[in-house]
Amino acid sequence: MMIKNAEYVTSITTKKLFEGTAPEIAIAGRSNVGKSSFINMLTNRKKLARSSSEPGRTRMLNYFKINGDFFIVDLPGYGYAKVTDRERESWKGLIEYYLRESKNLKFLFLIVDLRHEPSDLDLQLAEYLKYYNIPFVIVATKADKLSKEAGKRAAAVVASSFGISADELILASSLTGTGREEVLKAISDRI
Ligand code: GTP
Ligand code: MG
Repeated sequence: MMIKNAEYVTSITTKKLFEGTAPEIAIAGRSNVGKSSFINMLTNRKKLARSSSEPGRTRMLNYFKINGDFFIVDLPGYGYAKVTDRERESWKGLIEYYLRESKNLKFLFLIVDLRHEPSDLDLQLAEYLKYYNIPFVIVATKADKLSKEAGKRAAAVVASSFGISADELILASSLTGTGREEVLKAISDRI
């Protein structure tokens, strides 16, 4: 699959769904894990989704239309410590609301950091997705930060935490574009 065109469409901050008609692919993961950078890498656009070294940057659901055909939905990151309980609840609420209510969600990329063991929240999200029969593909990003060998070892750890085999995990880097083709194939296989 080729991404020929990508445009920002809208954002939602409250529990009011955007009623698009095209299929949606959601991007979820911890705060600061690299979700927005991942979208920019996929679309070959440096600033389509706002990325930042400041965690908690994406506080709403952002919709991007790809090839005029389907949406990529950038979800707010979870697990950021420096927010009030109220803010945390509101983000969690927004993510759950979206996962529960979106009529067009086809599947989700769960983004984790290859260097770290998945957090409890990552594992909880995976359980939630399984429970509600929402298909998902796990992407371990920031692969550029490890050597090839260390990356392989880390991939085995991440995969076993989620109870999948290492070859089901996509290793990616938004810096180098590693994994881009595999991700695009995962999209075209499912959409
Ligand atoms: P929130 O919106 O806060 O949840 O964050 P996010 O998950 O969208 O992360 P974002 O894309 O903003 O990236 C966070 C930081 O990680 C930025 O400083 C990025 O430059 C950096 N980053 C993201 N992906 C990669 C990667 O593949 N490799 C490296 N080296 N850095 C990355
Ligand atoms: Mg973001």
